[in-house]
Amino acid sequence: MEKKEEIYEGKAKKVYATDDPGLYIVSYKDDATAFNGEKRGTIADKGVVNNIMSDIIFALLEESGVPTHFVKQLSDRETLVKAVKIFPLEVIIRNVAAGSFSKRYGVEEGTALLQSTLEFSLKEDALGDPLINEDHVLALGIATKEELAKVSAYAHKVNEILKAFFLEKGLKLIDFKIEFGKTSDGVIILADEISPDTCRLWDVETNEKMDKDRFRRDLGNVEETYQAVLARVQNTK
Ligand code: TMP
Repeated sequence: MEKKEEIYEGKAKKVYATDDPGLYIVSYKDDATAFNGEKRGTIADKGVVNNIMSDIIFALLEESGVPTHFVKQLSDRETLVKAVKIFPLEVIIRNVAAGSFSKRYGVEEGTALLQSTLEFSLKEDALGDPLINEDHVLALGIATKEELAKVSAYAHKVNEILKAFFLEKGLKLIDFKIEFGKTSDGVIILADEISPDTCRLWDVETNEKMDKDRFRRDLGNVEETYQAVLARVQNTK
């Protein structure tokens, strides 16, 4: 598989074309940002952790019936994935109140929600990734009703699979963000990454935050925490 030109650079990853138009190579960086890019830094070897962890989780999801972009890990930082056009939506599921949900609705962090709660944000840093609802998505032509229904069903399925998976590793899945894309044949699949950058994970016993909130909130032990999460996910703790 030949790596060709860079076609996209995001805050945490670069995407390259390959000699197969149906395949891309994703390359994970150590760059960390928060608050829509206002806070910037580096987390040593985050790219390695996020690449390896995402691949383990995407393989698990694929086995469990959620179609994903994952094809094959190429190196510590690079993975071969199916080419998709990403829906400009952050698909978020929350099990426990935290972060922007706690702030917006005045609910204390750590409060269990009575049901798992799906929300969408428009992926647009310049606008601060505003919350949008299903009608907004349809009105703006971002996705069709059928596509949204599929995305929502997959998101809830991902939540059920990941809640159980992380619990086995001694981690509570508080909330997470995923992204979906469409292949050239119009098939909707899970894309992007699933990592401590995109999930809130709290230690089951201590409630210690084991995710990017350590960077966002300057809690310390950022690198160590990313490594610890990977070790748990790999079962080598
Ligand atoms: P929030 O509480 O800040 O809205 O975040 C909800 C979840 O989404 C949390 O697990 C972190 C993740 N997330 C991202 O992956 N990217 C983002 O840009 C934001 C704001 C949150």
